[in-house]
Amino acid sequence: MSAALAQQRLQQSHLQQNWWDSAVIYQVYPRSFADGNGDGVGDLAGLAARLGYIASLGVDGIWLTPFQPSPQVDQGYDVSDYCGVDPLFGTMADFDQLLAQAHGLGLRVFLDVVPNHCSSEHPSFIQALAAGPGTVERGMFHFVESPHGAGTPPNNWQSVFGGPAWSRAAPDSDTDLDWYLHLFSPGQPDWNWRNPAVGGYFEDVLCFWFNKGVDGLRIDVAHALFKAEGLPNAPNSAPVVDGLRSNPLVSDQEEVHEVYRRWRTIADGYQPQRVLVGEVNLDPDRAGRYTRADEMHQAFAFSFVNLGWDPQGWAAVGNELESVRQLHGAAPTWALENHDLVRSATRFGGGELGAARARAALLALLGLPGAAYLHQGQELALPEVDVPLDARVDPMWARGGVCRDGARVPLPWTADPAFNHGFSLADTAAQPWLPQPTGWGSHAIEQQLKDPGSTQQLVVRALALRRRLLAEGVLADDDGGRWRTETGGLLLCDRGRGFLVAIAMGTDAVRLPEGTVILTAAPQPTAGWLEPNNAAWIQRTAD
Ligand code: GLC
Repeated sequence: MSAALAQQRLQQSHLQQNWWDSAVIYQVYPRSFADGNGDGVGDLAGLAARLGYIASLGVDGIWLTPFQPSPQVDQGYDVSDYCGVDPLFGTMADFDQLLAQAHGLGLRVFLDVVPNHCSSEHPSFIQALAAGPGTVERGMFHFVESPHGAGTPPNNWQSVFGGPAWSRAAPDSDTDLDWYLHLFSPGQPDWNWRNPAVGGYFEDVLCFWFNKGVDGLRIDVAHALFKAEGLPNAPNSAPVVDGLRSNPLVSDQEEVHEVYRRWRTIADGYQPQRVLVGEVNLDPDRAGRYTRADEMHQAFAFSFVNLGWDPQGWAAVGNELESVRQLHGAAPTWALENHDLVRSATRFGGGELGAARARAALLALLGLPGAAYLHQGQELALPEVDVPLDARVDPMWARGGVCRDGARVPLPWTADPAFNHGFSLADTAAQPWLPQPTGWGSHAIEQQLKDPGSTQQLVVRALALRRRLLAEGVLADDDGGRWRTETGGLLLCDRGRGFLVAIAMGTDAVRLPEGTVILTAAPQPTAGWLEPNNAAWIQRTAD
């Protein structure tokens, strides 16, 4: 794309009222995207070298998961310096260059901010450990003595990664009897958000990245910052932030909204306005409260992410999200995959069936009213990899028996296995940090770019058409969706203005409603009918 066109694209979308309401963002997991220096771990140089590929998909921007300094206990979600770049991924100069390059290509750049917890190697935590019980330094975290004695944690909370959510500050000490709270691994102590110094610290972090020109932030475990006053026992020992069944005592506290009101004011103070997107893993009615007009711009629709191949389930969740939009104003933010979830091609049945469904679901996703986030490799319909036991590195696997590594395997760029299927761009290539399985090359980007029938090419066509329909006003930022199912497992989302998304989720071909089919996920052998596991965009005269 020419520089002039890229700039025009950015400016045009600045003119739209809420460009983010219809944006499509590509999630980059830097470790696994492209490896510039050949050490087997993806990095910023690799991403910069391959940024043109992302721009050529036609997305509006990228979201980068953490690359800040970190001991990498949780692959970067254990941050030891919020305003730096881990040498594993490059330097700040690499980041600055990448940001400029992305903007030059018309791509916005979102980063991850992890405000619930840091790394146990963060200077504030190290100081708190050294300072000892009852000190101001310990007040930055949740350090408490247990009323049950030194051998039993202060309460029954379980960590998301398995095991108690508490560890002793100094396990061998007779004088320091404090425990500290970690909703995730012991290497990820939770900040104490009831201490105003923590809020002040994070406002500086936000401004640091916004001042550089970063366009938005994805907020990690956004609903969990505040815990119920007094840290009471949970009614049961389920993990403390267990997705949609999240325990109301230990997350989703009212005080957290004040944080996002302050952050929204900060984001709105920039030109162009910066965007906040929350990982708010709660039911739609609770999650919707985080996108009220003066809070975040977006929150991922996790109720949708967790659905199987189930038309009634999709319709119910779709309509619920639409009611939440009507109540709070913000359009839904759709995703089917991210670095924590089993790849959709595997979730929807695996093999060819799963790949066909993942393609259909992806086309549907890109036609829904609201923003959409794609996880790298989703455009290739990559399956989940069964990573060999001895190669697994996810702390959730070690502590809780659930492994997220299978969605994080380095991308196959070439069919040829040399240089880790083209993932490593230097003259020599170390083994990739997670092994690529046999047959990985059959999904290669290089092949899919050349094949008009590939999932990757479908995404390119869908995004170009989406952009055109938005420009023509056939689709609008503020369209709602009315969802319904028809016999035979046909699922429909009607956006009004004459645009419908259809997915055949049953076992037989189904008759489509009237209108012109403008795009399908797979060939459509009989006009007016949709084969099982296919999806279509339909345009008809406006109602
Ligand atoms: C979020 C991240 C996940 C991480 C966890 C703890 O859920 O997406 O990868 O392990 O937070 O930071």
